[in-house]
Amino acid sequence: MKVSLSILTADFSDFKNSVGEVMKASDYVHMDIMDGEFVPNISIGPAFVKSLRKLTDKPFDTHLMIRHPQNYIKEFVDAGSQYITFHIEADCNAKEVIDLIHSYGIKAGISIKPKTPVKVIEELLPYLDMVLIMSVEPGFGGQKFMPNSIEKAKRLKELKEEFGYNYLINIDGGINDKTLPQVKDYLDLAVSGSFVCNAEDQIANLKKLQEM
Ligand code: DX5
Ligand code: ZN
Repeated sequence: MKVSLSILTADFSDFKNSVGEVMKASDYVHMDIMDGEFVPNISIGPAFVKSLRKLTDKPFDTHLMIRHPQNYIKEFVDAGSQYITFHIEADCNAKEVIDLIHSYGIKAGISIKPKTPVKVIEELLPYLDMVLIMSVEPGFGGQKFMPNSIEKAKRLKELKEEFGYNYLINIDGGINDKTLPQVKDYLDLAVSGSFVCNAEDQIANLKKLQEM
């Protein structure tokens, strides 16, 4: 399994020592961007993402949990993102935002919150490079995995195979060595934050997921 490392729960006072090595061992680095409106939390912005570019050349999988993603695409492209994912529940024209992301020559993803069904994004699937299923309510790391996400992953895999779509199926929230086995058959990659970053041996926990 490919792992996208969420650095949200890392020690921000000493980033290089706290997650520098595990970022290099991960397959992607997942950047959680929160605006205090779309979700009840505020995290990091483009300047911070750009500074992390010095620590790794792994692809940045940027997850925008912001109300107006259309206004910040260029900033996160310039910060070094290879994938930008925004929420279907955001206040924007989703097809226009996908086209905007693609106009910069990078990959576009859509995320769905736990209460949003797959059918809401079905007509956008042909244009997507990634679908990010939220398996917790977005806003905070360290929450419990919601099993209703498993059916969504399964459905996305069925649609992908039936129509020959190209999107990667990704999942975000509460992923660890107990929850990933329940859903891994339907995924291309998985986000993991606290299970890896807050572990005594971060590389060992990352490997546990990568070896599944
Ligand atoms: C939640 C974020 C997640 C979170 C994952 O809103 O989108 O990426 O940091 O952290 P864990 O793996 O601890 O649930
Ligand atoms: Zn995320």
